[in-house]
Amino acid sequence: MNILCAYNANIDAIYKVEGPQISLVASDYEEEIAAGLKCLPGSISSIPDFFAGLFSCMQHGTGAEWMILDKGVYQWLRSNFLDGSFLRMGGNMGIMANVLSELGASRVIPNVPNPSPLQMSFFSDRAIFIPYEGNMKKSSHLSEGDSSVSAPELIHFVFDFRKGDTFILGGKEIRVPRENRFIATYDLLNFELYADEHFSRYARDNIRDMEGALIAGYHLLREVYPDGSGYADKLRRSLDQLSSWKADNSKLQIHAELGHFASVNIASDVFSGLAPIADSIGLNEDELTTLADIYKVSSSGILDMDAMSVIRTAASLCDLFNIGRILVHTREFVISVSRTPVPSSLKTFEALQFGIRCAAAFACTGKLADRNTLVAVSSEIEESGHGRMQIAGLEKEIPLVYRENGVIAEYRNYSVCAVPTRLCSQPVSTVGLGDTVSSAIFLRELELGS
Ligand code: GLC
Repeated sequence: MNILCAYNANIDAIYKVEGPQISLVASDYEEEIAAGLKCLPGSISSIPDFFAGLFSCMQHGTGAEWMILDKGVYQWLRSNFLDGSFLRMGGNMGIMANVLSELGASRVIPNVPNPSPLQMSFFSDRAIFIPYEGNMKKSSHLSEGDSSVSAPELIHFVFDFRKGDTFILGGKEIRVPRENRFIATYDLLNFELYADEHFSRYARDNIRDMEGALIAGYHLLREVYPDGSGYADKLRRSLDQLSSWKADNSKLQIHAELGHFASVNIASDVFSGLAPIADSIGLNEDELTTLADIYKVSSSGILDMDAMSVIRTAASLCDLFNIGRILVHTREFVISVSRTPVPSSLKTFEALQFGIRCAAAFACTGKLADRNTLVAVSSEIEESGHGRMQIAGLEKEIPLVYRENGVIAEYRNYSVCAVPTRLCSQPVSTVGLGDTVSSAIFLRELELGS
């Protein structure tokens, strides 16, 4: 399988939050944090804004990614948290490219916004080839040189918090209801949906040899850029690029992975722009709720992880935009709602099982490995009880076509595949699991053919 991957890659600095220690650092900013929590700023212009984002996620067990608008806050995060973090590949595209490469794709061609030696050192060396000055380079060639953390690295701070940890907010002790993460991002290149010219040229010239393209990074777009421009041109440039790939290779399968959007305008422009081009769109329950609310489709039940609500909403969005498939990945289950006829759904079903196993093993070990190892590791990991119960409950709602550790069902003119996830009790990190699920599913479906 030859697969193009665009657009975002960065370095994630993963910091394990300890409630008492973070409460202590925050205690200098109590009043400002309380004000920020009353009216969430949604981006970070000051240290209290950062704590408001982190604490609101910890309080509710939700995930979010906020942009850092002030370089001083980024420097403050670097001095306070970089040393205590572990660094690894970040960015949906970077993570997905590594998954494809380690799981056995023959050639994976990523767009690399910042080809520093340190960034390159995080790319898998197995099947990733990087277009560079007319040649295809392995990442190991490009990671030679000084790979210490230098100032211009694109580092996103990922604050991972644990279920059951406690922290102090407004003098009260709060218990974290669910593990999740808050990401504080300062990144001037990926904000632009930056496409490297070597990558774009290679993609244009070789598109007929490609089977698939995995696309992500749209959630990093901004309403306003430092030069006063907006996101419309940047989005258009990317949509034009994807359309030209499709025009030159109608068999190319494109999967677009969404993220936590900075505004409803961006979310709706990206979604409606991608809908006619992408064969499949991947998102989590928060992102599905955001889109449902924008298009006045009912979102009730989604955040309670009700599988039937997820199916209804995904199908309504497919109706509205004529989308071929929506893939929803949550902590408890993964659901594909697609227009594919039921026989091919068996392949999707197999791909979903494969995807959740790879993600579970990655969550537990923090490392990618070849597929046999990942599948073997995942066999030891328990299925989500809630996911299993929800999927079993579908029988009462819609006709089932097939059942085995998950179901294939019919809902209106859609074919639904739903499988429970496997949950690791002590994940190394929860970041990038959606990307891992989506990319493993994408690869397996390409291999199985439609
Ligand atoms: C977003 C973040 C990135 C993280 C990724 C995981 O793209 O910017 O830091 O690795 O999400 O899905």
